[in-house]
Amino acid sequence: MKELFTLEGKNAIVIGGAGGIGAAIAEAFAFYGADVSIASRKMENLLQTKDNIKKSTGKDVSVYTVDASKEESIIALVDTVLADKDHIDILVNSQGYNVKYHITELPVEIMEGMMNVNVIGIAMLCKHFGKHMKDRGYGRIINVSSTRGSRACLGGNASYCTTKGALDMLTRTLACDLGPEVTVNAIGPTNTVTPMMEGLIKEHPEILHLGDDKPLQRIGRVEDCMGPAVFLASEAAGFVTGQILYVDGGMTAIG
Ligand SMILES: NC(=O)c1ccc[n+]([C@@H]2O[C@H](COP(=O)([O-])OP(=O)(O)OC[C@H]3O[C@@H](n4cnc5c(N)ncnc54)[C@H](OP(=O)(O)O)[C@@H]3O)[C@@H](O)[C@H]2O)c1
Repeated sequence: MKELFTLEGKNAIVIGGAGGIGAAIAEAFAFYGADVSIASRKMENLLQTKDNIKKSTGKDVSVYTVDASKEESIIALVDTVLADKDHIDILVNSQGYNVKYHITELPVEIMEGMMNVNVIGIAMLCKHFGKHMKDRGYGRIINVSSTRGSRACLGGNASYCTTKGALDMLTRTLACDLGPEVTVNAIGPTNTVTPMMEGLIKEHPEILHLGDDKPLQRIGRVEDCMGPAVFLASEAAGFVTGQILYVDGGMTAIG
């Protein structure tokens, strides 16, 4: 039964793999035996994450730069990774960001930029890696969405919530397009302490208490996404597709 969760012999790539949640998922995949690649724009951050994962797991991680908002950069990444690794079994899309504006002041370029990274770029990564996986007859895709894909909130989050709602539906639709060979699921974290949140927490330290009235009475840590990602990437989740697995301490269960 232990083999249900092993990732031995699998090639995985985590886009946004130098970010808080992406790096945690990459580390967990390495620990569970996968050959792991990570990709994002800044090589310096990728190399730092490679170093951290080597220290914690003893495993070497491959690093690639990509601008995941541009299809030509995504195609170049897919070509390079497949030339290096022969094939990819597991794709995680953990890239994404949030710039907050009240809808009455929202510049169109801000919303377009977030749509490009949080939705369209992910669709293009799933298009190119997904075709490769489907042709090969096996694949697992995990998109990092958010509780904000199904729960609106105050505070200038119209663009972000819209991108995550779109990503949830993209996930379900891709499960239809890429099955039966490829499963496509999403993880929906709640507020999680990562570099993306640091600035916001400095301005609004009350964020650290947003989980106090939720069932598990705290906000998220990056480690909370490790187990759910390993599960969705493994044979254990072979009959699970088109789902959003909330990693939210029970937040969406109660409201
Ligand atoms: N932290 C939270 O509270 C929270 C809660 C729910 C959901 N999420 C979601 O979880 C995901 C990861 O968030 P995080 O908190 O781990 O953020 P993070 O630490 O800021 O990491 C984001 C990663 O995305 C990469 N990225 C951004 N734009 C990119 C682009 N155009 N091309 C390639 N890579 C790009 C960044 O690297 P470069 O800048 O070097 O490219 C970075 O590695 C996001 O989708 C976020 O919306 C986060």
